[in-house]
Amino acid sequence: MKPFLFVTDLDHTLVGNDKALVELNEILNQHRQEYGTKIVYATGRSPVLYRELQVEKNLIEPDALVCSVGTEIYLDNGDTPDAGWSDILSPGWNREIVFSVAKSFPELAPQPDSEQRPLKVSFFLKEEFADKILPQIETKLQKYGLNIKLIYSSGIDLDIVPRSSDKGQAMQFLRQKWKFAAEQTVVCGDSGNDIALFAVGHERGIIVGNARPELLKWHTQYPADYRYLAQGYCAGGILEGLKYFGFL
Ligand code: GLC
Ligand code: MG
Repeated sequence: MKPFLFVTDLDHTLVGNDKALVELNEILNQHRQEYGTKIVYATGRSPVLYRELQVEKNLIEPDALVCSVGTEIYLDNGDTPDAGWSDILSPGWNREIVFSVAKSFPELAPQPDSEQRPLKVSFFLKEEFADKILPQIETKLQKYGLNIKLIYSSGIDLDIVPRSSDKGQAMQFLRQKWKFAAEQTVVCGDSGNDIALFAVGHERGIIVGNARPELLKWHTQYPADYRYLAQGYCAGGILEGLKYFGFL
């Protein structure tokens, strides 16, 4: 067995199937101890909401935590985001302008304060308005010459972040730092903000069986033999995929 880099989204991917999670946690912990496998969580949550989930679901300590849709990377359980990563993201970002432009759209309702981060501004946007409003927000923000990107997930969450930021690019930053080949890296997800994990390169991908329509639609449009669509839900689907790719 060889070490691998395991990168997973949390809500409805790692978390959501308690029985399978217990089994997966045990296997991952053992793999880490015996072979040096590394565990990374890549979540849309802020560190505050991440801690709540970690306690509630008894999540094992990761080797790195990617929070706020890729805009913050925490290494070795530290509480200061990696400065090298923040420096890469900051040019062309201005959260005040982003926030005030977004606020001018009545369809957008701000998410709680804990989810407004230095490099991420987040709103709720109902699915019925999304197709019409998203291009309008983008056009308006482009006028200010900002380097931004919109990420829409789960038919409700809108994140506005620096263009060079997403879960996929954060994952690659760690992969290169720790020198894992793409073939020895596996990424897992269920919704829109995970597309970047699957799309950025040729890492092995596991789409859990309960994936959201936006991710399934993308997967149908861009199929790849290094990506596996599991039947099992959440951690159950991850276990299935890890066996499929021969990581276990
Ligand atoms: C998490 C975050 C939220 C974000 C969503 C999608 O729920 O708390 O701010 O919009 O993930 O990325
Ligand atoms: Mg999710």
